[in-house]
Amino acid sequence: MSLSKATVVAQVLPNSPQPGKQADAFAPSNIALCKYWGKRDRELNLPVNASLSISLGSLGSQTRITPADGHDQVWLNGQRLELDTNFSRKVLEFIGLFRRDLQQSVMVETVNNIPTAAGLASSASGFAALMLALNEFYQLQLNPEQLSAFARMGSGSASRSMFDGFVEWHKGQQPDGMDSFAEPLPQSWPGFCIGLLKVCTAEKTVDSRAGMQRTLETAPLYQSWPQQAEQDLKTLKQAIYQRNFTRLGETAEQNALSMHATMIAAWPPLLYWQPESVAAMQRVWQLRAAGTEIYLTMDAGPNLKLLFQSSDIELVRQAFPELQAPDIVTPFD
Ligand code: DP6
Repeated sequence: MSLSKATVVAQVLPNSPQPGKQADAFAPSNIALCKYWGKRDRELNLPVNASLSISLGSLGSQTRITPADGHDQVWLNGQRLELDTNFSRKVLEFIGLFRRDLQQSVMVETVNNIPTAAGLASSASGFAALMLALNEFYQLQLNPEQLSAFARMGSGSASRSMFDGFVEWHKGQQPDGMDSFAEPLPQSWPGFCIGLLKVCTAEKTVDSRAGMQRTLETAPLYQSWPQQAEQDLKTLKQAIYQRNFTRLGETAEQNALSMHATMIAAWPPLLYWQPESVAAMQRVWQLRAAGTEIYLTMDAGPNLKLLFQSSDIELVRQAFPELQAPDIVTPFD
């Protein structure tokens, strides 16, 4: 039996909060190089495997919480949302974990500056920014590990959006999940580039939450995933430590494609790729065959994230003219 989120919060924060004053926070988006795929606890978003990501610098979510009169208000990118939308319900449910029995309405405003053309999910940066803002609003004085562990309860990948640069999320083993938090790696990597390649706008029908659950329950191939992820994580950390781009790129690409292989082997099968995704993958492989060090990674959607170094930026732009300046992120520069 899993513990409820409210129980875990009450254990860490035994006292009800005091009414809050305005709070602002920002958190970056992140791209996993070793993917989080599968939960051992669905209530708390505790992962089957540890994962490793790179944060996207100034691309992410900005969140403001202010006291409101009468009713809660939820705003997204300058628009006021109905309270029964999915987004509003998730945000208010999360706020409720920390507001508890306090009678104070809030207005919560989220602005995502991720280029909409990039087709990136914003739940990771959204929950991380919301957690940071709640920490300030209610003066919870949580430490970075607790902030990361609580953001994880909103969305698993949000645990990693709490930090910049390369970030490792420990899988942990405690039932309350408080040892399942992320931590930044000390290494930086000037010249490291991520290209956000949007290949199509098709709406995805199965989100990552449902996708990973289906894979875990129905794909025999999933059995090999935890062990591979563990090995890939070690290899990636070593590659980062040694600044070995080839090793990093090869490992990240193989990790992503292995994750997709487990989804394809689920039932009903899960294939997030569109014909345009495969065409773009072929372009990456052609460019690589011609000598450019470029690698790809993909999440639960049709778009690609390209990994390359700034010395190759011109070659990459020639091969992918659709990449605009804001679609190329250099997290360490
Ligand atoms: C494929 O963090 O969105 O992007 O914990 O259910 O909210 P929930 O899932 P989420 O899953 C992300 C899956 C992924 C891989 C990754 O980012 O590690």
